[in-house]
Amino acid sequence: MLELKHVHKVYRVGAFGGGRLRAVRDVTLTVRPGEVVSLIGESGSGKSTIGKMVLGLLRPTSGSILFEGTDITTIRGFAAKKDYYSRVQGVFQDPFSSFNPIFKADRVFEMIRSSYFPKMSDADWKDKVLTALGTVRLDPENVLNKYPHQLSGGQLQRLLIARALLLDIKMLVADEVISMLDASTRIDVLNLLADLKERGLGILFVTHDLSLGNYVSDTSVILRKGAIAEMGPTGRVFDNPLHPYSRHLLSCVPQLHRTWAEVDAELAADPPEDVVLPIAEDDHSAPLVEAEEGHFVGIDQA
Ligand SMILES: Nc1ncnc2c1ncn2[C@@H]1O[C@H](COP(=O)(O)OP(=O)(O)OP(=O)(O)O)[C@@H](O)[C@H]1O
Ligand SMILES: [Mg+2]
Repeated sequence: MLELKHVHKVYRVGAFGGGRLRAVRDVTLTVRPGEVVSLIGESGSGKSTIGKMVLGLLRPTSGSILFEGTDITTIRGFAAKKDYYSRVQGVFQDPFSSFNPIFKADRVFEMIRSSYFPKMSDADWKDKVLTALGTVRLDPENVLNKYPHQLSGGQLQRLLIARALLLDIKMLVADEVISMLDASTRIDVLNLLADLKERGLGILFVTHDLSLGNYVSDTSVILRKGAIAEMGPTGRVFDNPLHPYSRHLLSCVPQLHRTWAEVDAELAADPPEDVVLPIAEDDHSAPLVEAEEGHFVGIDQA
């Protein structure tokens, strides 16, 4: 459904725009319907840049991004863009910044109505809103007619997801949607994402939180300095991380179900097979090696 092929993003930086920062390097990945793909990596590894390119907020410097077969960089004009956003929506880290404090929070729904459903009757619209709120498990009594400051971060985050669901979206880009929430609300929002996945939505899930993030994701993509260090089914990547960077990242994460002493003991008893990583001929490509079925490891780009 969503396919990134050899996507690069170079930002111009510095006072005169003379510097170049390679934020995303040769990223190739796919998101299928009903699949949650996690983008994992430290701050500055290019996760949000990838999300913004998928949402058409930034153009790739090279490479292509196909959604249902169409290269999204060729989408021009208001009507075509509107159509794209009826299928692909994003939700971001800080729910508070997505709301204008002087307007009631449900105004974000009205904006969808005026753009996409101007002819819908009040009664039908109300039904639609109630259905979307039901899906994100929000009680309309608690959230409608309220100002943003009267709602919690988790409620606002779910309102934003409900807004996306007013449209018949196929793909959601969720960029750090749980990082500002407290632990129990995080689980709620993750459960919600799991429900959406069950309904066939593809989700690109950007996260710092490996211990919770792996709980919803089918595929994990570990990014390092904009390039893919490792990618594969989440179970394989987490149980058998092959790239030194992934091992380092995963070793920094306290796991919910095992202690690190147990993990270390397991690793010592059964060390993961070392993979030989080829050297890139030119620094513009970041080839991946298929170490086991569906489990890819990138070359080290120190
Ligand atoms: N508009 C921009 N202009 C120049 N450089 C940028 C711009 N946006 C991001 N960058 C740089 O590109 C790199 C990748 O940024 P990006 O926001 O994609 O990282 P991230 O993985 O989302 O990080 P975080 O976890 O902190 O959100 C960083 O070095 C960042 O400073
Ligand atoms: Mg980011």
